[in-house]
Amino acid sequence: MTTLKFRNDDKVSAKVFILNTIENIDNIGLSTDESCYAKKIYDDDKRKTIVINRYTECYHIFFIDGDESENIFMERCRKKGASICKWLNDNKYEDVLIQNIGGKRCVKMGCAEGMMLANYEFNKYKTDAKPNTLKTIYFLEGTACDDCVDKLNVTVEATLMARDLVNEPVNHLNAERLAEFISEKVRSVGGDAEVFNKKKIESLKMGGLLAVNAGSPDEPTFTILEWKPENAVNEKPIVLVGKGIVFDTGGYNLKPSSSMNDMKDDMSGAATVACTVYAAAKAKLPVHVIALVPATDNRIDGNAHVTGDIITMYDGTTVEVLNTDAEGRLILADALAYAKKYDPMMVFDFATLTGAAAYAIGPVATVAMEHDAEDIYKQLEETGERVYERLVKFPMYEEYGELIKSDLADIKNVGGKYGGAITAGKFLEHFTDYPWVHFDIAGTAYIETADHYKTAGGVGIHVRLLMRFLRDMATKD
Ligand code: BES
Ligand code: MN
Ligand code: ZN
Repeated sequence: MTTLKFRNDDKVSAKVFILNTIENIDNIGLSTDESCYAKKIYDDDKRKTIVINRYTECYHIFFIDGDESENIFMERCRKKGASICKWLNDNKYEDVLIQNIGGKRCVKMGCAEGMMLANYEFNKYKTDAKPNTLKTIYFLEGTACDDCVDKLNVTVEATLMARDLVNEPVNHLNAERLAEFISEKVRSVGGDAEVFNKKKIESLKMGGLLAVNAGSPDEPTFTILEWKPENAVNEKPIVLVGKGIVFDTGGYNLKPSSSMNDMKDDMSGAATVACTVYAAAKAKLPVHVIALVPATDNRIDGNAHVTGDIITMYDGTTVEVLNTDAEGRLILADALAYAKKYDPMMVFDFATLTGAAAYAIGPVATVAMEHDAEDIYKQLEETGERVYERLVKFPMYEEYGELIKSDLADIKNVGGKYGGAITAGKFLEHFTDYPWVHFDIAGTAYIETADHYKTAGGVGIHVRLLMRFLRDMATKD
C-alpha cells in the first residue's frame, strides 16, 4: 500500500504542485523558459494541468481554483489525485512530493487520499502481476498536521483491507476464514475479538443465521470485535452490525447467473464494520465501538431451508421464510437482537441487502433509513457529504410494516413487489429497540468498472465515513 510521509527536502524526482493562480508558477523553482512555457499553454489552451519533464525530474502542475462548495472541491482534489496516480505509475515513479502553493491546506490531503485509494490493486492471484510502482507520497515537513496524516494512513489502510476482503472469492474466504482474519487483525492492534462457532450459535438459538447456513457445507460464525479504550468519550458503546454472506446463490430461490456473478460481495457490510473497528483501534480513537458479524454462505443442499419454512429467531420472533434469497435480513435480525444486550448508544448496520436499493439510486449514493436517530442521521449525512460517501434517506412509514405481516408467523421475510429496500428495513427494525441507522449498500459496495479513486470490485464503502464520524465524535466532547 502507498504511505503518506513527511520529508525535509524536495529531492524527489516526481513533484506535484497544486496552485491556485498562474502567478504562483514563478514560485516553484522553474527556469524562466519553463515558466514562460507554462504561462503560455495556460493562457492559450486554458489547460489546467501542465507537465514539465526534465532529464532527472518531472513537474506535474495543476490548478485548483474553483469556487464550489468545500465538499465538492475536496472531491475534485481526490479525483485529481487518482488521475495523477495513474500518470505516476505509467511513468514508473516510486515516490512523489506534493506541494501546495497558495491554496487551502486540505487540497494536499484530498489529492493524497485520492492517490492512495486509486493505487489499490488486487493481484494476488495473478502469476505475472506487474504491480504499480508508486510506494510513497511525501509532504514537506510542517505543511500538514501530523495527526491528520496518521489518521489518513490508517483510514486508507482499513478501506483497502475492506476492498481486499470483498474481492476475495468464497473458495478462499468462507465464514470461518473471514472470522479468523478479522479477529486476528483487530487483536493485532490491541482490540478484542471473540468468534462463536456453530455449537455456540445453536445454543444461543440464532434461528436466522442457522436457517441460512443449513444448506452450507461450511460452519457459520458470529464474530464480536471490540475496541474499548479507557478514555472513551461514550459511556454506552456504538455497535456496528455487518452482513457477512460470504456468497449468496439465493438458495432454493436460486439467482439467475447474471445476478449471482458478483455475490462474493455480499459480505461487504461485514468488511466495512470489521475494518472500521480495526482502524479505530489502530488510530487509538477514544471511542468505545463494537462490531457484530454474522457470517455464512447461502447455498442449496438437501438440508437447505425452503420457502414456507417458519423459523424462530434469537429474540423469539417467528418468521415465515417466503424467499430464501432474502437471507441477509435473517442473519442481521439475530445480530440486531443480540446488540440489545450492550444497551448501545446507537447501532448502525451495513448490508448489501436489496437489489431494490441499488435500482432506486444506483452506485452514486447509499440508501439509508433511521429509527429514533434523527440527529445522529443528520450528522452521518453531513459526514457522508464531506467524505463523498453520500446517503439518501428513505421513509420508514408504519404502512410499510403492514407489508411484512404474515398469516402464519409474526412476520415474513419479503414484502412484495413495491418498496423492497424499505420493507427489508422494516423487517430489521422489528429487532431493534435503540437509536438505529440502516445502510443498504447493495448499490455502492461493489463496482464493475473503476471510477476515479474507486477501483473496480470492492469499494470498501463507508469505512471513511465511519472513521470521520468517530473522529468527530471523539473531538466534540
Ligand atoms: N444480496 C442480495 C442483494 C443484492 C443485490 C446485493 C444486488 C448486491 C447487489 C440479497 O440477499 C437479495 O438477494 N435480495 C433480494 C431480496 C428479495 C428476494 C426480497 C433482492 O433484492 O432481490
Ligand atoms: Mn439474497
Ligand atoms: Zn444477499
